[in-house]
Amino acid sequence: MTAAMDQSRMSGWDAALARRTKSLGGGEITAILALAGASDVITFSGGFPDPATFPTPVLADIAARLITQDPGVALQYSATEGIAGVRDYVAGRLAALQGRMPGPPELMVTSGGIDCMELVAKSYLDAGDTVVVESPTYLGAIMAFRGYEANVRGVPVDGDGLRTDVLADLLAAGLRPKILYTIPDFQNPTGLTMSASRRSELIALARRYGFLILEDVAYRDLHFEQPPPDSLWSMAPDVVLQAGTFSKIFCPGFRMGWAAGPAEIISRLVVAKQNSDQCAGALGQRMLEEYGRGGHMERQIVASRALYARRAALMGQALTAHMPEGTTWTAPQGGFYIWVTAPEGVDTVALSAAARARKVAYVPGRPFYPADDGAAKIRLAYSRVADELIDEGIHRIGGVLRTALEEL
Ligand SMILES: Cc1ncc(COP(=O)(O)O)c(C=O)c1O
Repeated sequence: MTAAMDQSRMSGWDAALARRTKSLGGGEITAILALAGASDVITFSGGFPDPATFPTPVLADIAARLITQDPGVALQYSATEGIAGVRDYVAGRLAALQGRMPGPPELMVTSGGIDCMELVAKSYLDAGDTVVVESPTYLGAIMAFRGYEANVRGVPVDGDGLRTDVLADLLAAGLRPKILYTIPDFQNPTGLTMSASRRSELIALARRYGFLILEDVAYRDLHFEQPPPDSLWSMAPDVVLQAGTFSKIFCPGFRMGWAAGPAEIISRLVVAKQNSDQCAGALGQRMLEEYGRGGHMERQIVASRALYARRAALMGQALTAHMPEGTTWTAPQGGFYIWVTAPEGVDTVALSAAARARKVAYVPGRPFYPADDGAAKIRLAYSRVADELIDEGIHRIGGVLRTALEEL
């Protein structure tokens, strides 16, 4: 096949894309993330846990035991809602950590955190329905909602999390979301946490206006010192669906998560999962259960918190040392991210090529916003970069910003 034929065939397939997929875009961020793979680049992009937190000897033992002694469960299809023993383990863990035990119909095992967003979107969103998100928010969630042609509307955040006053005004003016998606603890991308009073206000609004709160607790357990305020789901299980993931506290390679919420909703998500991947992988489910019941999970989380707290502190010091005047950043108390605001006029998407030339990678802010915003923002993940590279990486970003400011 000639290069020209090859090209015409590719554009032919692109023309065949579903309308909902065409409007998704996403190429820009894929290209930026691809840079992060280069081995000689100091990378602050991607919300990856450090592989040092993957307990390989323990996992090797558990895997060998399950494969030889429990193949009929561990290597088989599982029930769509998850293996009963695994759900029992996850329910017990939620009771211990969040003070509320979901009943069996209120809990299912998902294939990581994003699976829950996809299942909710598939089950509940018609084209044109409104989903309110924090602005900025996790890009994967925006894409999941847009994938079902939802109208994704942002509400700003401040140091106390989602601006419930702005939300209240929008609702009073007639906005009627079906779902409000929030990451209340150590949010992606800002690292900010929703205060206890904002949580209560949000729940009151959900009850008053009849929308579902989709609470993403991806980073909840990775607090540095104080745990975050009570989870929304534990406060209001009637109007909150909690999406959890084990990717950040166990290993993303297993793709394990949970959904906890009203039984009526969970039963719908189970049907949706039957129509997608049918069940989360049984081997991963049983590995999770054995690892968790053996006490390894909670022990490792203590060590992971110390690791990420140290990296966040190193990054904070490096930012103080190297950022140009007028730059600000958040001081997260948990999670993986610091959110940087460069001086007005800087376009961090345009600067990513200059950053690549200096062999450093970050994620520019724009894709985290549902509307056109965030040109001067940068998300920095400190989770997977070696301690000794943090200062040099931030020094390089500082250099990129200084050069851009001189040219403004
Ligand atoms: C807020 C948030 N939710 C969900 C996910 C996805 O989790 P998983 O990899 O388990 O699908 C991420 C991953 O970066 C995230 O930051």
